[in-house]
Amino acid sequence: MLDQLLAELEQFGQANDASTTERPRRMLNITRDTGELLAVLVRACMARRVLEIGTSNGYSTLWLASAARAIGGTVTTVELAEYKIGLATATFARSGLAPWISLVHDDAGRVLARSGDAMFDLVFLDSERPEYPGWWPDLRRVLRPGGLLVVDNAISHPEQMAPFVALVRSDATFVTSLVPVGNGEFLAVKADQARSDQR
Ligand SMILES: C[S@@+](CC[C@H](N)C(=O)[O-])C[C@H]1O[C@@H](n2cnc3c(N)ncnc32)[C@H](O)[C@@H]1O
Repeated sequence: MLDQLLAELEQFGQANDASTTERPRRMLNITRDTGELLAVLVRACMARRVLEIGTSNGYSTLWLASAARAIGGTVTTVELAEYKIGLATATFARSGLAPWISLVHDDAGRVLARSGDAMFDLVFLDSERPEYPGWWPDLRRVLRPGGLLVVDNAISHPEQMAPFVALVRSDATFVTSLVPVGNGEFLAVKADQARSDQR
């Protein structure tokens, strides 16, 4: 059932985005192989507390939530646009994954600012790229030591991503990697200071 819904959303996203240039009406979903990568990362990191920034109609959320459910976790996903909140709500209701998803209708900057320190094991960032540098202090704060940040579009939009990538790479607390899957995933893992000190 979930596979069928994912395939349906892929077809809808491609057809919809091909027929409109109006950004707020586009789904801008991750690719299927990025969804598969996210599912592996959630399970490999045992990321039970997942935050997604940029829900759209909920395609990427389904990959995250399905993996989180398998390890006893949940996903909080943040979306600003009312139109997308309506679409995502319908997606989650159909998916059977709604109990494992908390959909927050708000600005991601505000949600990050009110989130506690080390609250998340994995953050998936897929929103308005020029905002990322401003969100960085809160992004690094809400990730737990050992937590993973995954950012979409690192290869498809290198110029827009450059200031943020430079910021993260210059932070000695993080180890990074650019993964050529889908639109290019920028990964940054936060050092676990307690473990490093034991060595
Ligand atoms: C690239 S799309 C997300 C696609 C989704 N992750 C997927 O793969 O299915 C980016 C989304 O971020 C939302 N967005 C833009 N600015 C935002 C903000 N400040 N706070 C929360 N969401 C925002 C947009 O409305 C849009 O739906």
